[in-house]
Amino acid sequence: MSQEIVINQIGIKDNLSIVDELVGALHASELSLNIKTANWEDIKDEYLRYMIECEEEAEGKFFVAKDLYKTIGFIFGFIENKDNSNFEIGSGDDLYISEGFVKVEYRNLGVYSKLNNAFIESFSKQPIRRIIRYTLNNNKTMQHWLENKGYRVVRLVYEKWLL
Ligand SMILES: CC(C)(COP(=O)(O)OP(=O)(O)OC[C@H]1O[C@@H](n2cnc3c(N)ncnc32)[C@H](O)[C@@H]1OP(=O)(O)O)[C@@H](O)C(=O)NCCC(=O)NCCS
Repeated sequence: MSQEIVINQIGIKDNLSIVDELVGALHASELSLNIKTANWEDIKDEYLRYMIECEEEAEGKFFVAKDLYKTIGFIFGFIENKDNSNFEIGSGDDLYISEGFVKVEYRNLGVYSKLNNAFIESFSKQPIRRIIRYTLNNNKTMQHWLENKGYRVVRLVYEKWLL
């Protein structure tokens, strides 16, 4: 690893091959934890379109970490405007961080922490009420990371598959 890991925001539409590679790698990691994960090749076109929509319509941001010229990780999230379907206190918007990934050989070096800090800092001028993140029940690494950063489990999502 080089001395300096550099974090930058990139536009999804203009960097589709980088986004495809990184989100595809996250997908493979999800598949190892959840058998219901779809094949990335089958869903990627629609999924990338959805991410572009989030970027264009919900202030979505995609940040990458680079070690010299090699892209080694990413974080992606967007704003969920508070609406009336909402039970909780507070008047700001919610920042939903939907995805994140760091290549295996670069883990436990603080890369994701750096991505996370840069991403959240970029929203610091906005009135964000809370940050929301989901993770799989068996993703203990991510749960540990989240607890370490001050996040707490508030809801459990139960699923029953019918088809
Ligand atoms: C979850 C994931 C993104 C974390 O990435 P990471 O870059 O390894 O995370 P960090 O290095 O920031 O933090 C990991 C740990 O390293 C520690 N750390 C940070 N800097 C460090 C350093 N310089 N030296 C040693 N440890 C360090 C952190 O404190 C943290 O410690 P903890 O084990 O006590 O929590 C990564 O494991 C991953 O990509 N997993 C697969 C995809 C995934 O599950 N994504 C989340 C889906 S919801």
